[in-house]
Amino acid sequence: MASLNTQSRAHVRKQQIRPLAGSLLALAIGFGVATAHADDALPKLPNKTPLKVGFAQTESNNPWRLAETKSFKDVAAKCGWQVVMTDANGSNSKQVSDIQSMIAQHVDLLVFPPREEKPLAPIVLQAKKAGIPVILVDRDVDQSVAKAGRDYITFIGSDFIDQGHRAADWLVKATGGKAKIIELEGTTGASAANDRKKGFDEVIAKNPGMSIIASQSGDFARDKGRQVMETLLQAHPDVTAVYAHNDEMALGAIAAIKAAGKQPGKDIQIVTIDGTKGGMDAIAAGELGASVQSSPFFGPLACDVAQRYAKGEKIPTWVKVSDRFYDKSNVQQNTQYGY
Ligand code: AHR
Repeated sequence: MASLNTQSRAHVRKQQIRPLAGSLLALAIGFGVATAHADDALPKLPNKTPLKVGFAQTESNNPWRLAETKSFKDVAAKCGWQVVMTDANGSNSKQVSDIQSMIAQHVDLLVFPPREEKPLAPIVLQAKKAGIPVILVDRDVDQSVAKAGRDYITFIGSDFIDQGHRAADWLVKATGGKAKIIELEGTTGASAANDRKKGFDEVIAKNPGMSIIASQSGDFARDKGRQVMETLLQAHPDVTAVYAHNDEMALGAIAAIKAAGKQPGKDIQIVTIDGTKGGMDAIAAGELGASVQSSPFFGPLACDVAQRYAKGEKIPTWVKVSDRFYDKSNVQQNTQYGY
């Protein structure tokens, strides 16, 4: 079984919540979210329009990424942003060089989802040195290198460990606490993969009738998920459940399971994360058991945070996004949230 370097959110200090006025940000802040470090060391953000904002996307190979990019395109005019966008095509080094070029263009603000925790941490420090404030969305960086509230304004995103807990809790119930599980991990080194694995594995470890018989990366991609599942199905024909770190890999696994002559949702229970339209359709079809939503709609939240920061307001080090949960009991009533 592949083992990943799991890391807790070291920057979250369990302090009292200081509620901020205003709807979006206040809604997004959950329990246990810390107030920021003294932020005088962080670069200032000019309170001007238009604001030149660099958004460096990791890749555009799935509906989740496309929805995330769209949420920034949609918010730009409303927020008074002139957005410079790049796509790293799944390469850490390209994402770093995209951000370097934005720094060279003197953007006013940088917003990006770091593809992996470690390779993308130093560029946050480079941006700070160049006097450009940074907001990280969706995924976080290695806190031993760059720290939220000290080196960048904040991390806006879901609690990936909790997503893993919720997926595992559903699977324990759905299988009566007895399952042989294949885990399809996301991109190795991404905070989303590290923490989703950590959360899920923690719950499974407490259930003696459940075991993870294989765990391998499918890189958050449908085709890779299908290929990995094909191979693992041959090695582990006794599998009874699949946990995929995202819907796309779950959909790939469903194709592999069918090709092997088994019935997804009957012979093999599947649980996943994202809440895409494709995932919701698979739940409605009875092939996918459940999907924990992971919201990709960071544009409005990043706009709100940036405006507050420009006015000198204190920003929490983690703006936590709360996520829905879909299974056959509620998927039909929630189709409007699919993307
Ligand atoms: O970081 C979030 C994950 O990245 C989403 O679950 C996945 O679909 C995406 O590629």
